[in-house]
Amino acid sequence: MKGLKGKIAIVTGAAKGLGKAMALRLAQEGTIVVAADVDHEALDAAVGELVGAGYSAEGYTIDLTKVSQIDTMIEYIARKHGRIDFLVNNAGIQIRKWATEFPEEDYDLLMDINLKSYYFASRAAARYMKQQGGGAIVCTSSANSERFTTKRTPYCISKAAVNGLAAALGNEWGRFNIRVNAVAPGYVYTDMVKQGIAEGIIDEKAGMSVVPLKRYLLPEEIAAAVCFLLSDEASGITGQTLFVDGGWNKNGLPEAKDLE
Ligand SMILES: NC(=O)c1ccc[n+]([C@@H]2O[C@H](COP(=O)([O-])OP(=O)(O)OC[C@H]3O[C@@H](n4cnc5c(N)ncnc54)[C@H](O)[C@@H]3O)[C@@H](O)[C@H]2O)c1
Repeated sequence: MKGLKGKIAIVTGAAKGLGKAMALRLAQEGTIVVAADVDHEALDAAVGELVGAGYSAEGYTIDLTKVSQIDTMIEYIARKHGRIDFLVNNAGIQIRKWATEFPEEDYDLLMDINLKSYYFASRAAARYMKQQGGGAIVCTSSANSERFTTKRTPYCISKAAVNGLAAALGNEWGRFNIRVNAVAPGYVYTDMVKQGIAEGIIDEKAGMSVVPLKRYLLPEEIAAAVCFLLSDEASGITGQTLFVDGGWNKNGLPEAKDLE
């Protein structure tokens, strides 16, 4: 894709799952990738795979619940590489409990990672992007930003807010040539979803009855959309949420035959 080669990208939550696939696809496009994650061991392994395959990548261990750590990371990367072209706000957690039972500390933790870190990492990166004449940011939202599921209310709220964040920042920062968009994935078999299946909350088969493509998405399909939105191929797109969810957000009620 146009405009990715030689650029500097930070991808949060890149030690595993979707972020790992995004880091790989960006590296394959010739982007220099900074993979950021709290899971030091998994991060070392993921970055080791990229470097071992000959790509330009480095790891940065960070707890995204701490705004001071976010500011330090952005400053460190900007100084080291002289610029920050792309930021992918992707790290996220899921906590599945009835809204009536949801503890305040779980709510705060989820919002700190899924929403607050996206805002403050964008803020810190945009200061450099503005100085250097532009940049692009993509935030990982979810189909749950528009299609709501029980026991996931704070998660749904956080993802609906991510769509709003991309729209609001896209609107404000267009004048600085900084584009901000979101990608909203449907279900992908990562640890997050496997845990929901193991807890008996996600019904592996019935869930697909409302998805027009009738299948789980691949991490590579989400990564491709992220790369597209970062690339010059998407130079006219900002403030948007691109649903990569097999059509789930356009479906209504399932028909009886869909449930067979
Ligand atoms: N898997 C899906 O089906 C799906 C669907 C829609 C949206 N999403 C979203 O995609 C993103 C990635 O999810 P995933 O499925 O790859 O999950 P995952 O659990 O496989 O990976 C999440 C990564 O985020 C990191 N992380 C968590 N807390 C952190 C913190 N405080 N600081 C730094 N890193 C932290 C984890 O260590 C992990 O490497 C999330 O925002 C999630 O909400 C996933």
